[in-house]
Amino acid sequence: VTENNVFESVLKRICADVDLESEWLRMLSQLEYAGCRKIIKSVPFDKVDLSVLNHVMEEASHAYLLRAQAERLGGALPSAPLTEIAWTYFQTLDHGVSRLQGQGYHYPPVSWIIERRVLEVYPRYLETTRQLGVKRVLSRILAQEERHGAQFEALKLDEAFKIAAIEWEASLWSDFVLGLQSWAAPKGAMHHAAL
Ligand SMILES: [Fe+2]
Ligand SMILES: [Fe+2]
Repeated sequence: VTENNVFESVLKRICADVDLESEWLRMLSQLEYAGCRKIIKSVPFDKVDLSVLNHVMEEASHAYLLRAQAERLGGALPSAPLTEIAWTYFQTLDHGVSRLQGQGYHYPPVSWIIERRVLEVYPRYLETTRQLGVKRVLSRILAQEERHGAQFEALKLDEAFKIAAIEWEASLWSDFVLGLQSWAAPKGAMHHAAL
């Protein structure tokens, strides 16, 4: 609950500053791109079907749409610290969930855990942003993410695995939120926190 509040307040700060929001959008685009690349790397040829190709196509389009909105807002490339926070979250999540699963096909459970988080984050961002273009794009993306979420939620994953994976993801997410908080903090406050 506290962490949800922290995320809400970070989102508000991001959405109140066009430079921060542009950087945030570029970071989200990087995550969508990384997600797309993870699907491609983890699905062997004999498992590629229409649903996998549709997933790759849609995640690539999310990366494109978010980046296009970021460029419309102007601003710069994501700063190294923001990319680092996002990358650490995603890589550690992927490796940890794959390790919890053990031997096997990692694409379905990793997608399952990620889509759950996406369905928490994008609706809140949609509610908070004041940018109409961003709202339009997020609504379009969310319709697809809801379909992905339902598709992976319908898989019969092992219950004990699911509980462990949810716990693992939640701890990484709270690190992500703390990282975001110091990235988005006014420069003076960040300096103060560093002391
Ligand atoms: Fe996506
Ligand atoms: Fe998705």
